Amino acid sequence: MAGRLEGKVAVITGSGSGIGQAIAERLAQEGADCVIDYIVEPEEAQGTVSKITAAGGKAVMVQADVTVMADCTKLIEAAWSQLGSCDILVNNAGIEKHADFVDVTEADYDAVMNVNLKGAFFLTQAFVRKLRDAKKPGRVINISSVHEDMVFPHFSTYCASKGAMRMLMRDLAVELGPMGITVNNIAPGAINTPINKNLLADKPKLDALLATIPLGRLGKPEEVAGVAAFLASEDGAYVTGSTYFLDGGLIRNYHEQ
Ligand code: BGC
Repeated sequence: MAGRLEGKVAVITGSGSGIGQAIAERLAQEGADCVIDYIVEPEEAQGTVSKITAAGGKAVMVQADVTVMADCTKLIEAAWSQLGSCDILVNNAGIEKHADFVDVTEADYDAVMNVNLKGAFFLTQAFVRKLRDAKKPGRVINISSVHEDMVFPHFSTYCASKGAMRMLMRDLAVELGPMGITVNNIAPGAINTPINKNLLADKPKLDALLATIPLGRLGKPEEVAGVAAFLASEDGAYVTGSTYFLDGGLIRNYHEQ
C-alpha cells in the first residue's frame, strides 16, 4: 500500500490533533508531502510534523487561520512555494458548541460557521484557483459528520454547518468535475478525539451513546485516515459527490424499543 500518494502534496487543516493529525500521518506514510497548519500556538502542529519526519515522511508547518480568506490563500501558496504543488485538500478543521437553540449567541454562531463552513469554502476556492492556473487535477476531502444528515439537538450551529458542507460537496463535485477535481465527504460518527473530551469524561452519557452504535465502540482517528487515503489515491479516482459514513452504523440505527 505504501507509495499510493508518492509525488503528491496535501494540505490538511486542523492537523495538530485528532482526526486531522491521523490523516496527515497516513497520507505521509503513503508518500504525500504534507502541510500542517496552526492558528497561534505551533506546539501541536510541531508534534505532527515530528511524527511524520520520524517515520521518514516530509511535512512543513504553516500559520493560517482558515476563517480569514487571506490566510486560506497563504496556506495554499505555501504548499506550492515550499513543496511545489498542492494536489489534495483535506478540510478537517472543525469545532462544535453546545447550546439550546434559544440561547445560541451570535459569537458562537459565527465561530462555528466560520471554521466549519467558511473556512472549507474559501480554502477550497484558493485550492481550485491554483489548480485551474496550473491545469492540474485534484482531490477535495471534507471531514463533515454524521450530523451532515442526522439531528443533534443542542448543536444547531454544528448541524447547520455540516448540512451546508454536504450540499457544498455535492455542488462542487458537479461544478469541478470537468476540471478533474473530485469532491467527497467523510462523515465520522463518534470518534475518540479531543472534540469529544466532554463526552469521554461523562460515563453515563458515553455509555448511552455506545448503546446506539451497532459496532459497540467509538471509532479511531486512524480509521477515518484510511478512508481519506483511499479518496486521495488512484483507488478513489472515480469517486466524486459521495459521503462516506464512518460511524459504526450509528446513523442507520433508529428503531422503536
Ligand atoms: C461530533 C461528536 C458526536 C458525534 C456523534 C460528531 O460529529 O463531533 O460530538 O459525539 O458526532 O454524535
